[in-house]
Amino acid sequence: MTKVITYGTFDLFHEGHYRLLQRAKKLGDYLIVGVTTEEYDRTRGKLNVIDSLMTRMENVKKTGFADEIIIEESTGQKFHDIQKYKVDIFTVGSDWTGQFDYLKDYCKVVYLERTKNISSTMLRTQNKRIQRIGIIGTGRIAGRFIPEAKLVSGVSTQGVYNPHMESAVRFAKRWEIDAYRSLEEFYTAVDAVYIASPHETHYGYIKSALEHGKHVLCEKPMVLDMKQAEELFEYAKERELVLIEGIKTAYCPGFSSLLGVACSGLIGSIRNVEACFTKLENPNFRELTDLQYGGSFTELGSHVMLPIIKLFGKEYEEITFHSINDERGLDLFTRVVFKYPNGLATATCGLGVKSEGRLLVAGTKGYIVAEAPWWKTTYYEVHYEDPGKVDKFSDRFLGEGLRYEVSDFLSMINGSSKNEFKLTRGESIAMAGIMEKFLKENRYHENMGA
Ligand code: CTP
Repeated sequence: MTKVITYGTFDLFHEGHYRLLQRAKKLGDYLIVGVTTEEYDRTRGKLNVIDSLMTRMENVKKTGFADEIIIEESTGQKFHDIQKYKVDIFTVGSDWTGQFDYLKDYCKVVYLERTKNISSTMLRTQNKRIQRIGIIGTGRIAGRFIPEAKLVSGVSTQGVYNPHMESAVRFAKRWEIDAYRSLEEFYTAVDAVYIASPHETHYGYIKSALEHGKHVLCEKPMVLDMKQAEELFEYAKERELVLIEGIKTAYCPGFSSLLGVACSGLIGSIRNVEACFTKLENPNFRELTDLQYGGSFTELGSHVMLPIIKLFGKEYEEITFHSINDERGLDLFTRVVFKYPNGLATATCGLGVKSEGRLLVAGTKGYIVAEAPWWKTTYYEVHYEDPGKVDKFSDRFLGEGLRYEVSDFLSMINGSSKNEFKLTRGESIAMAGIMEKFLKENRYHENMGA
């Protein structure tokens, strides 16, 4: 009996997939089809898969060509499967020609000609109207957004708005997009908005974007006031618009996997979370010159609060802030201590003090540790009482990582996914509340004499 194996995502099952499976089956007597998990696809940069794994497996099954369907969840699995299932022929479409030649030592490798003019990517784009995204703000992060958004099929970056027209024109020229003179003009040209303007302007822009019927992805910290956050989410809900906070860590595959491991029971019950992120910033940058809204906590606090709020929740019993401020009252280093009924947590961040950036999640059976830059999670370890036993986990974090949040934003707009669990409104509201408390205690005090 000749055993054949092939792999694919098989999203929005199409004629190309059908013909591939038909010919793969003809190569032998028994066909095994590996269908990729969504997580695996994300790690290899394939974003926006629409059909669920179950649907994709069901569609492969319906063709009647597959004798066995397996799940493909990691790189290197092919090599393992070929040995495990005693495969004679590995086959895949000609778009992969040469890429699996390394398997030739173990079985025959056949590249079947790809069916022309059809692909899942094409269908995904046709199915849904391209979402035209407009950017508000022209700073460093806005510049990172454009190349990242290009990698997500189904969105195009249309243009930019900045009240300082000169900056908008310069930015637009650099990225070959349009610059708009007025917000009205800008809203007419776009379907969704990415807000990357200074923190204190977020509230006004989010509100006006929602009023104009636009979906919003807003850079962190979304707002610095709990009531404002509640109001905006309520407003978005009423209008059936998507509003999400862009904390990129929340959307990246490695961080999701770390949370999954933390909650799996592997380290027992979670008792302590310590998150630290420091970055020695250029003293001339806004972060260190804006005495009202700059400083380390408003800048980096979202990152360090995120794992705490995700793992312990929003209902802390007590929260205390400890900062080292400079002579102008700007916090160069801040530590926030959270007390929960069964746990303790610290969120530490700094722009003027360098420390070991680390995420540590300690439980009753062991602990998880992810070194800097854990906020772009690619690797973490689980340690136990026995120092000789260590479990190691790794994931990909591609480019600047903004592609993951853009992809989720788009899925939510298209209604094809409710990825809100990665960062819920409740969590964003809670973090806005913590920012508000911090500013009231630290900043307003120091700078505004309030
Ligand atoms: N395939 C094919 N002809 C096509 C499309 C896909 O022969 N027109 C083959 C691929 O080469 C692969 C299998 O079908 O062997 C599964 O491919 P998959 O990546 O799931 O489909 P694509 O349409 O290529 O998906 P995407 O656009 O997301 O890359």
